Amino acid sequence: MSDNKPYPQADLERLIIPQPVGTMGTDLPDVRVEMLEKLDEKHVLMMGDNPSLPRMPDKPTLQDFFNLRMNESTRRHLLESAKRALDDGHDEKVVLACMLHDITNASLIRVDHGYWGAQLIAPYVDEEIAWAVKYHQALRYTPDPELNYEYPELYRKLFGEDYEPPEYIKRDAAFAMQHKWYMTSRYITLYDIYFFDELDEPVTIEEFDGIIARNFRQPVEGLGFDDSPSSHMWRTMIWPNNFL
Ligand SMILES: [Fe+2]
Ligand SMILES: [Fe+2]
Repeated sequence: MSDNKPYPQADLERLIIPQPVGTMGTDLPDVRVEMLEKLDEKHVLMMGDNPSLPRMPDKPTLQDFFNLRMNESTRRHLLESAKRALDDGHDEKVVLACMLHDITNASLIRVDHGYWGAQLIAPYVDEEIAWAVKYHQALRYTPDPELNYEYPELYRKLFGEDYEPPEYIKRDAAFAMQHKWYMTSRYITLYDIYFFDELDEPVTIEEFDGIIARNFRQPVEGLGFDDSPSSHMWRTMIWPNNFL
């Protein structure tokens, strides 16, 4: 950790303008103009480490993102899903797919999270794992009675009784269901349960260090700094408040 490094923009008031996708179309105030008007020798727009967030190491690993950037409920959901898959004897690809399936929900973006998540992890995992993460989003809406998978009750609550998923979700689910990797993605949906209160002890990411070491290619430069097709997405999680 590099906690004694000075913070950038020290002695200045750092202003944060929320990302457009987070506020567009909502009742949240548009603070952009107000913030820009405030700029003077004492006020700047946030760039770099935000002192209000836990500081990431210079070469962050997947474990660091779990521990320092995820909200508690998503971290718990992912680790408990992975633990259940492991306890049921699934292979490491399925376990890792379960562990990563909602990775962007925690600290990047919720919209189309399966697609974003797949792209985020693709440079570092077996193609089958990224594929499973991508398609779990569409399969989540799609029953498979032979496997005892029903449309989730939770979705009725979240989206209303009459919600119909859009065409691209139906198309992608139909594609996934006849694919050779279907079951890898379907297992994600079968373990996509909130297991609150059922496990005695909280699961930690460190319990999966071995599985991660064997199945996730951590870059030596650290996630975000290796110039992969998704490095910018990891950097966005390191510095979610950067103006640019
Ligand atoms: Fe999901
Ligand atoms: Fe999930």
